[in-house]
Amino acid sequence: MPAPRQIRLVQTLGPHEETALAIFYDNPKLRDYWYAVASDVEVTNDVVGRRLLGEDLVLYKDASGDVVVAPDRCPHREAPLTAGEINDGVLACCYHGWAFGAEGKCVSIPSADPSFPIPKSSHLPCYRAQIRYGLVWVCLGEPTSDIPEIAEDHDKTFRRIHNPVVEWKVSATRMTDNFLDIAHFPWVHIGTFGNAQRTLVPKIDLQDLPGGYHGYEYDVIADNPPSAQMSSGETEGEVKRTMSTGFHLPFTVRSTIKREKGPAHIILLLSTPIDDVTSYFTFVVWRNDDFSVASEDTILFDRMIGAEDKVMLEKIPGVLPFEHGALANTQSDKPSTAWRLKFVEMLGG
Ligand code: FES
Ligand SMILES: [Fe+2]
Repeated sequence: MPAPRQIRLVQTLGPHEETALAIFYDNPKLRDYWYAVASDVEVTNDVVGRRLLGEDLVLYKDASGDVVVAPDRCPHREAPLTAGEINDGVLACCYHGWAFGAEGKCVSIPSADPSFPIPKSSHLPCYRAQIRYGLVWVCLGEPTSDIPEIAEDHDKTFRRIHNPVVEWKVSATRMTDNFLDIAHFPWVHIGTFGNAQRTLVPKIDLQDLPGGYHGYEYDVIADNPPSAQMSSGETEGEVKRTMSTGFHLPFTVRSTIKREKGPAHIILLLSTPIDDVTSYFTFVVWRNDDFSVASEDTILFDRMIGAEDKVMLEKIPGVLPFEHGALANTQSDKPSTAWRLKFVEMLGG
């Protein structure tokens, strides 16, 4: 584990750099939360490398299918374990063949007499990891809370639909800010549902939402082009949606869409910091439709919306500034401002 630097919320890069970058990713408090880093299926038969909060990790599944997550560094001579090979749940290092199995235990040292006991220092110092919602979740420290609960995951009338975990060149702080924001809909989502959006955002009242989220409820008129109708379940050109959107610290956002006629549609938006300015993104969807449409088809529209956000956000460098007065806000920024305050408080700033 790298030695954490002091908590710093703002760092000015230099006299010619006008962008103040907040450094958050090495704040030790962030290690005590769960992050989605990979799809379950990616890890099923492969050794997978990921970087979380600046730390390189190796991911693999042992013979019983339990996921193992450890620093990507062999305890012997520090070769990257991601360069190794997995066979029947045992990961062999490519340098001298030391092999690791369940819970990262070293099970073989080819150069040593097998009657010789394997020293404890040969085992991998594993992190907590679990599979939930089709994703591999990792906590680098002591979890202070559980993975956000989605009650509908236990409801048989809903189905869960997965998406790949992809890398965005965007700070997780900007992603969370964006996912809580509705004022950008008519500007950024013009190619999907945003055309019918009114630019004026009604007054937002923040409240605690079910499942431990904090956010707001609102009605929107959304464009419902043919590409959206598989998802919305409605055929009119414009549809009314009742939405609720809220956050769960540090970077989870849940949006629930209820339509007058179509199915309920829950989106869990997950931003995982690789470092300050790069993140993994994935989203999971739950729907109570009649399951007659292929799962993939019901989320194509959501993927198009996500692609629009990515294009926009990758234009904005650095971290969302945290210091008071650094950003101009209007009433539609209330949810994001509430998240920023709670996030800074969480970091100890
Ligand atoms: S460095 Fe991995 S076995 Fe030697
Ligand atoms: Fe968006």
